[in-house]
Amino acid sequence: MQRVRKAVIPAAGMGTRFLPATKAVAKEMLPIVNKPSIQLIIEEAADSGIEEVILVTGRGKTEIVDHFDAHPQLEEILRRAGKEALLREVLRPSQMVKISSVRQQRPLGLGHAISCARHLVGNEPFAVFLPDDLVDAKRPCARQLIDLYERTGKSVVALMNVPRAETSSYGIAAGSADLHDPRVVDIKSLIEKPAVEDAPSTLAVVGRYVLDPSVFDWLTRTNPGRGDEIQLTDALAAMIQAEGLLGYLFEGDRFDAGDVTGYLLANLNWARKTPRIWTSLLQYVDTHRGSEGDGG
Ligand code: UTP
Repeated sequence: MQRVRKAVIPAAGMGTRFLPATKAVAKEMLPIVNKPSIQLIIEEAADSGIEEVILVTGRGKTEIVDHFDAHPQLEEILRRAGKEALLREVLRPSQMVKISSVRQQRPLGLGHAISCARHLVGNEPFAVFLPDDLVDAKRPCARQLIDLYERTGKSVVALMNVPRAETSSYGIAAGSADLHDPRVVDIKSLIEKPAVEDAPSTLAVVGRYVLDPSVFDWLTRTNPGRGDEIQLTDALAAMIQAEGLLGYLFEGDRFDAGDVTGYLLANLNWARKTPRIWTSLLQYVDTHRGSEGDGG
């Protein structure tokens, strides 16, 4: 079985749910505590054994690539000032994995964005990370999927149970649980953002995938679907019969950082890991509890 060494991170979307913040700033650069959210994603990739990341960017997204580049001038200033801890933080993003980028000329959909990375992925399995989905897990979420891929040779999508009323916001999978491992689902059908009454289950696809390179051929054959965009879900749905597709109910907490509430919750989750910050937040909440919406 070929090892999963590469990852594609599509980050060329417009981020409309986060306007006006995302008018001139890439949403992937909005911080979770003191790191841009995209750094948490690339840390998960590195911790999952990924060696090379391909960022799919678009207009106004060059700052993402800059963040993962070396900054000799800043490094020298910190070195001279003896600020070793800060220097390590500044160096870290450029040292985690090899990064390259490709532009998606027009936002024609997630499936199209992934196709743009085809020549850099080549003929090997690869992971996909949607940068909106932050997962806090003991064993990195992508690693959980990669282990299943390397055991079975089948493409894998991350799954999470959601309330039925929320099924219309996700790709929804239907299938049967594996007898030996209840976290593994043999997917029989997949549908992008169904009406709640049409959802075949409450198993939602979240933004981690490990894909066989054959997905590129399926994407080529996929016509624009929902929102007139080329949808990854449609290509995966077409792939099921010919190649099989597994779902994995990953262990960990997932936050949708592309949505304002999910983003704030993610900040709280990661702030909890720094006692000094967490204590101040709890004090603030204690002081202001019961004064919601008073504008002050
Ligand atoms: P979303 O559908 O969440 O779109 O894309 P978005 O633009 O990022 O956010 P909203 O909904 O307008 O607020 C899912 C993922 O696919 C990428 C996005 O960057 C995001 O990571 N994407 C989407 C592309 O790279 N290109 C596209 O054409 C569409």
